[in-house]
Amino acid sequence: MENSEINLDIEKISSLCKRRGFIFQSSEIYGGLASTWDYGPLGVELKRNVKDNWWNQMVWERDDIIGLDSSILMHPDTWRASGHLDSFTDPLIECKACNKRYREDHLDSDIILKKSCPEPDCSGELGEARMFHLMFKTFMGPVEDDAAIVYLRPETAQGIFVNFNNVVTSSRKKLPFGIAQIGKAFRNEITTGNFIFRTREFEMMEIEYFVKPGEDEEIHQKWLEDCMKWYDSIGINSSKLRIREHDKDELSHYAKSTFDIEYKFPWGWGEIQGIANRTDFDLKSHSEMSGEKLTYFDEQSQEHIIPYVIEPSCGVDRTVMALLIDAYSEETTIQPNGKSDTRVLLKLSPNIAPVKVAVLPLSRNEKLTPLANKIYDQVRKSSLISGHVQFDDSQSIGRRYRRQDEIGTPLCVTVDFDSLEDNMVTIRERDSMNQTRVQISKLPEIISQKL
Ligand code: GAP
Repeated sequence: MENSEINLDIEKISSLCKRRGFIFQSSEIYGGLASTWDYGPLGVELKRNVKDNWWNQMVWERDDIIGLDSSILMHPDTWRASGHLDSFTDPLIECKACNKRYREDHLDSDIILKKSCPEPDCSGELGEARMFHLMFKTFMGPVEDDAAIVYLRPETAQGIFVNFNNVVTSSRKKLPFGIAQIGKAFRNEITTGNFIFRTREFEMMEIEYFVKPGEDEEIHQKWLEDCMKWYDSIGINSSKLRIREHDKDELSHYAKSTFDIEYKFPWGWGEIQGIANRTDFDLKSHSEMSGEKLTYFDEQSQEHIIPYVIEPSCGVDRTVMALLIDAYSEETTIQPNGKSDTRVLLKLSPNIAPVKVAVLPLSRNEKLTPLANKIYDQVRKSSLISGHVQFDDSQSIGRRYRRQDEIGTPLCVTVDFDSLEDNMVTIRERDSMNQTRVQISKLPEIISQKL
């Protein structure tokens, strides 16, 4: 069964994630900290593959984009200039009876009209909406006064804008060009939830793509196509994706127009990426606030211009969430004894799967184990195979196949007693469960062709 036919709730995904070591609740031994999550041994591989694939395609495979890794803490004037100090707010509404808090723009209009709490067992009255600031504050240095306030960045983009001159001067890029950055961002969201979908600490993959004014709209459309192609390349089902343009009243303070790429989550469509036309808003504001001109010398017109910016901004955690949901499937078969048996598998694309290959000796045995270890070394050290390779010799082979299916491993290599005689092993494929017997000496080559 594909995931559209399964009653796929978030509980199913989050319990698989915990059981198999993808994602754990943060600070769990202390009862957890609301909506913060830790990526376990498999989660970290999955997330890394997402980021590496994005970086490969967006930076290495193109000659118009270069990278940056700027700091999380920035001069507070950054946030004055960017407009975040004034405008990075959400409308907060609180129930006067149960004190539950809601984002006004997430409530149905009839609830706002009736002003009654949407909690099923509460009939309290909702208070007036007030604007709630989303940036986390902290203090720099030993004195906790207003002069020491700094903010945890709510987007990585500003690190790119304030480094515009540094990057242009050192890399000598010509328009149009982009600067890419992957890093943490923090938002003190009013409401969080749906597992890793809306959290207060998350990771972003952002590009600020600088263009000549006038070329912005065409390049904006091209970015929509390029971003959709990226989701396709990491195996997300394109029928579960859509592009939605922001209404005028939804636009951020800096945007001329924005398109969201949304995924069809079990609870409905949700944004995984925003692609905004930020115009020259940020470079202009930082030039004014800092007194340093953030401009580009256009050799053609012999003029200094302030480029426009197209910004594809993608959430790493939301992409991971979409991948897990998209890949989850169940296959139920009826056994000869009449009982039904369900195989759970993550049909992750091989370029994203946290474990690429598992080497499984049929049993723990003084002859088989050394051969299996040798094969494990051969596969994981091969330059033809890039990614994590696992070795597992515990429990029955059937259970081990199930475990690998459930974590999305595309290929298992089974070493059996015949392998000792014929120097061959079996490659078992996750989705089809097809098994092929191959020469050990050719294993890395064959695996690399299948991945
Ligand atoms: N610099 C542009 C920007 O920050 P955004 O639409 O606010 O744009 C970009 O955020 C992406 O970051 C979103 O599409 C989403 O994937 C991710 N994101 C935003 N808030 C998030 C949150 N609270 N938890 C997890 N991911 C979030």
